[in-house]
Amino acid sequence: MSKLFTEYKLKGTVHYEIVDSIALLTVDNPPVNPLSEGVRNGLFEGIAKAEADESVVGVVVTGKGRAFIAGADISEFGGNMSGHSLNDVFKSMEYCSKPLVAAINGITLGGGLETALCCNYRIASKQAFVGLPEVNLGLLPGGGGTQRLPRLAGPSEALKMMLTGAHIPAKKALDMGIVDSLSDNVVEDSIQFAKEKAKEGTNHPKVRDLNEKMIEARGSENVLVEAQALAAKTRKGQFAPGQIIKCVEAAINLDDFDEGLKKEGELFVECLMHPQREAMIHIFFGERAASKISDVPANTSSMEIKKAGIIGSGTMGGGIAMCFANAGIPVHIIDQDEENLRRGLSVIEKNYDFMVGKGRMTPEQKDMVFGLISSSLEYKDLHDVDIAIEAVYENLDLKLEIFKNLDEHTNENAILASNTSGLDVDAIASVTKRPDKVVGTHFFSPANIMRLLEVVRGEHTSHETLASVMTVSKKIKKAAVVSLNAPGFIGNRMLFNYTAQANMLLLEGALPHQIDQAIESFGLNMGPFRMMDLVGLDLGWRARKLSGVESPLHAKIGDYLCDNDRFGQKNGKGYYNYSEGSRAPNPAPENEEVYEKISAENGFTRREISDEEIIDRCILALINEGADILSEGVAQRAADIDVVYINGYGFPIWRGGPMHHANAMGLDVVVDKLKKYHEITGNNAYKPSELLIKLAQSGEKLNDAPSGNDRKEKLNFSMSSVAGNF
Ligand SMILES: NC(=O)c1ccc[n+]([C@@H]2O[C@H](COP(=O)([O-])OP(=O)(O)OC[C@H]3O[C@@H](n4cnc5c(N)ncnc54)[C@H](O)[C@@H]3O)[C@@H](O)[C@H]2O)c1
Repeated sequence: MSKLFTEYKLKGTVHYEIVDSIALLTVDNPPVNPLSEGVRNGLFEGIAKAEADESVVGVVVTGKGRAFIAGADISEFGGNMSGHSLNDVFKSMEYCSKPLVAAINGITLGGGLETALCCNYRIASKQAFVGLPEVNLGLLPGGGGTQRLPRLAGPSEALKMMLTGAHIPAKKALDMGIVDSLSDNVVEDSIQFAKEKAKEGTNHPKVRDLNEKMIEARGSENVLVEAQALAAKTRKGQFAPGQIIKCVEAAINLDDFDEGLKKEGELFVECLMHPQREAMIHIFFGERAASKISDVPANTSSMEIKKAGIIGSGTMGGGIAMCFANAGIPVHIIDQDEENLRRGLSVIEKNYDFMVGKGRMTPEQKDMVFGLISSSLEYKDLHDVDIAIEAVYENLDLKLEIFKNLDEHTNENAILASNTSGLDVDAIASVTKRPDKVVGTHFFSPANIMRLLEVVRGEHTSHETLASVMTVSKKIKKAAVVSLNAPGFIGNRMLFNYTAQANMLLLEGALPHQIDQAIESFGLNMGPFRMMDLVGLDLGWRARKLSGVESPLHAKIGDYLCDNDRFGQKNGKGYYNYSEGSRAPNPAPENEEVYEKISAENGFTRREISDEEIIDRCILALINEGADILSEGVAQRAADIDVVYINGYGFPIWRGGPMHHANAMGLDVVVDKLKKYHEITGNNAYKPSELLIKLAQSGEKLNDAPSGNDRKEKLNFSMSSVAGNF
């Protein structure tokens, strides 16, 4: 066996060696072998070398480590790509005269799968998975994926794969015709296979020539109509899905494969130039950056969480327990009494049964994950957990009592976390002997589904505690963002400002359905009034009553509705009416005289308000508060705020989050608009944040702003300051 290495100073390398008359090209670009310049050049030159060497009869391409090739090198986007283009590489592979086998050893995504589709044969390891997730970055598979995948998997399945960006396990990829066979020794078997095929002759199949499934789909609109429906349902407002559908339409209808490739190239460039692409890539990098905490060194040791404890098996506790169990981490739940515990466990089991019913897990998988959840009523049973997460009622005295118990009964190294939505984590830490191990873990409801996790950093929370929570959050598949311990943390503080302004618009003359429609047309999943009805209007109302302080203007209508027994979805009437068992909002014309009355009582002459003003005022309220959160150092960076708002509050990913949206509008425009609304309304929510003014003047963007340290005083954590705004 001779061994030759082609090393490149560029990012990425492809090792070239000859094994048994087969050229083995091994992509080496840790950690997941993206197609950086060095890899593209290495593949191109490797194929040329194999072609030129008469002793070589076939070629195998594989990846070093856990990935085959996990996609394009996103860091090259937006710059001038040098070296061989992906299309040159793919062309040289596709026209290689010797049999070319992709030995798919692991993760094979995007350009990685497109590479494999340019090979004559594909053999996959049983642990591998494949996918074309470009849509998640506002792109389409621009390396021939939209033309080749439908030829193997059929246009309908290929469209589903490209529109969802789903990762397809090897076994399913085999069933779909994407790979030819599975293997336990993928490289060795591919080498043997290439040798056999070389003996058979020179006529090796090319995916580009497989037209059968394209011709079959011609003339029927069904496939495309189904795809459009899927895109409308799951990717509302996004540009790339429509482009992907157009590419597949071209694959179906054009006789010439190269014409299809050309069309794909044109549509790809349109995606690349579209502002949504920049927004979505901003979030892709933002989520990765969020796990880095500026003053916590990357090499900080973190404790492995081998077992978790949950206190309270209600809405949140149950969902959090599922997150750990789903990640294979055993979890023990305790509750205050048998009845609550039984109810909590039965909800968890029902959730798993629902997933089995939907085909999202097998009954065996359910038994396995549900089997990881144990329960009791005793604190002593939490003696061996590495993290205990409290999720009892939002009541400080109750939480203090729970933390005293946890401090007493858990291992002294265990992290003690609270799922509080807004109580002071430092106050909670103060009753323990280990404030360095106390942290907030603010999950969102439903906790087993929502990706956001705000990690609330108390005054004494140690680096190790933070590092451990950030590490486990990845395991349980959360997008974790660090927040300082400040009222409302990041997300709810912004939300309060936003809902307060939506309520002001109602008081000034707009109606709930108009406001909701305007905000939903901007791209949020749910308008503010539908959301307030869902959460329950009574939460804020009760908190305001308890505080004994007079309600702020924006809460007057909500108070009146609650005084008249309109709590939202929970009792079938709030800003909207609901029929029994339905969450669909119906108009509530009976409320209109209430709006008239409260507006008049508070000195407002109701007026026509345009959709533009509604969107401006609600979104500007978010942006302005976000800027303050950044300058106070409550959030580490602007992108963290975007990650919070997209993963926890239904902000459209294609707008990149409120901070990115502000950058895209231009901060000078944002400041001018804020000034205008400040003048019109006299409302301080629109008094432009100092940070925005400074950045607008210097021509910088919010991303350029380091997180500040402008917190003048410790703000008041009382419930009135948190929930009182609803
Ligand atoms: N529900 C949400 O949308 C949401 C979202 C984020 C955060 N939170 C926060 O999560 C926490 C829990 O909220 P939830 O909605 O799950 O409440 P819940 O009412 O659904 O559940 C609370 C659970 O705690 C149990 N409990 C009460 N006292 C206890 C005690 N002394 N010992 C053990 N168990 C006890 C109850 O029996 C119940 O099972 C609160 O702090 C809340 O603010 C809630």
